[in-house]
Amino acid sequence: MTVQESTIRRGMFITLEGIEGAGKSSAIPILAAFCEAQGYAVERTREPGGGPLGEALRGIFLNPELTLDAEAELLLLYAGRRDHWLNRIQPALAEGKIVLCDRYEDSTYAYQSGGRGFPQGRIAELARWAGITQAPDLTFWFDVSPELGAARIRARKADRLEQEQMAFFTRVRSVFAQRQAAEPGRILRIDAAASIDQVHATLLADLAPRLKQHFS
Ligand SMILES: Nc1ncnc2c1ncn2[C@@H]1O[C@H](COP(=O)(O)OP(=O)(O)OP(=O)(O)O)[C@@H](O)[C@H]1O
Ligand SMILES: [Mg+2]
Repeated sequence: MTVQESTIRRGMFITLEGIEGAGKSSAIPILAAFCEAQGYAVERTREPGGGPLGEALRGIFLNPELTLDAEAELLLLYAGRRDHWLNRIQPALAEGKIVLCDRYEDSTYAYQSGGRGFPQGRIAELARWAGITQAPDLTFWFDVSPELGAARIRARKADRLEQEQMAFFTRVRSVFAQRQAAEPGRILRIDAAASIDQVHATLLADLAPRLKQHFS
């Protein structure tokens, strides 16, 4: 490991993943408060977005009026992710912070490959090309059925992705499941159909020993 890599690794990079309505955004303040109470500095961020370029691209990405083909969508995502990684995540980790990121690369595989059918190998190729090579230290996968996720967000105005059919979200969920099975040490499955209090209690119980281990 180079000096630069060991510096970057001082912080802890945690991502939250799962389909719409799974409960990711609701969990961020709970996780942040817990980490802060333990004395850690926390950087909260999200994708698409996070960096200045990514936040501008987010508006394009989620605009229901725009039709993007799979290639254009993927190129936008990685342009934003590169900016996010270089200008926000990496500096925060170098300062020793815990980065809590609402969606990251697992969502790209789940949505662009599972949902849209883009070959996974080409996503990996683009990730390498864009310099996105460091996986999160820990990922919480909020697993919920597309039906329950949709019921939770029914009141919210549908953005472009939420207009997709249930079959799309079933494919997205199955790629999250494949990735969890392939990397069980990094990706923890959270039963996101449970009550919100139960989900949050489980998250903190899972996080506490991992924080201790990471920073020991
Ligand atoms: N475990 C839960 N039980 C019941 N309701 C929940 C639960 N978790 C979240 N909710 C509610 O469901 C709605 C969607 O939750 P949230 O916005 O956190 O989902 P999300 O995973 O961030 O979705 P998106 O991917 O669309 O941003 C919110 O109104 C939230 O209060
Ligand atoms: Mg959200």
